[in-house]
Amino acid sequence: MSSSLSLVSLTVLSYELHFLTVIGTRAILVEREREMQELTFIVCLLTVSLFISVTFTSQCSAYGLPIVRDISELPQDNFGRPGLSHITIAGSLMHGLKEVEIWLQTFAPGTRTPIHRHSCEEVFVVLKGSGTLYLAPNSHSKSPGKPQEFSIFSNSTFYIPVNDVHQLWNTNEEEDLQVLVVISRPPIKIFMYDEWLMPHTAAKLKFPYYWDEQWHQTTVKDEL
Ligand SMILES: *[C@@H]1O[C@H](CO)[C@@H](O)[C@H](O)[C@H]1NC(C)=O
Repeated sequence: MSSSLSLVSLTVLSYELHFLTVIGTRAILVEREREMQELTFIVCLLTVSLFISVTFTSQCSAYGLPIVRDISELPQDNFGRPGLSHITIAGSLMHGLKEVEIWLQTFAPGTRTPIHRHSCEEVFVVLKGSGTLYLAPNSHSKSPGKPQEFSIFSNSTFYIPVNDVHQLWNTNEEEDLQVLVVISRPPIKIFMYDEWLMPHTAAKLKFPYYWDEQWHQTTVKDEL
């Protein structure tokens, strides 16, 4: 009697076990399926982000800038000098250029640069308008002295030899003067003169120059 009872209970137990196993397997299968779905999702996500980063990298330079940029969409500012518009088209501190820097500058009638010099080469291309270049060739005098005057005009070009003191002036009362400027050895270190007879030794160094100030701070911060 007791043995048949225990047989029954054993059978019931084995059914229960079987039932539990079935439920357990189903639970594991459901879990697996969920994991697979998650895995597929992650793989998809990785593929998409890889695709985006490849596409992005192929269109961007080291500083994360697009290779081709619309100049009319670049930031421009007068940096506290009324009548000036300055755009750094390609910059040292801004974009990481090592050898040259290019600006696009527009001077409203009557607007001029300070009298200044710098130990880099500078090439100008006049895109629009006209004006006057004042240039004091490098000499052994104590001060720049009276500069030579040159008329500049649309589609003209000129370069400023290293350390020659100069000033650009839109002397045309009607039109803006627009120039494309290329400098070597950026970022620029400018020595400014109050007037042509000011001694070279009294010229004031302005570094970083106005349009480099913001980028200079960021660069220094990055280095710290
Ligand atoms: C500037 O000069 C070049 C060379 O002669 C000429 O091809 C070009 O059309 C000129 N540009 C303007 C705006 O006059």
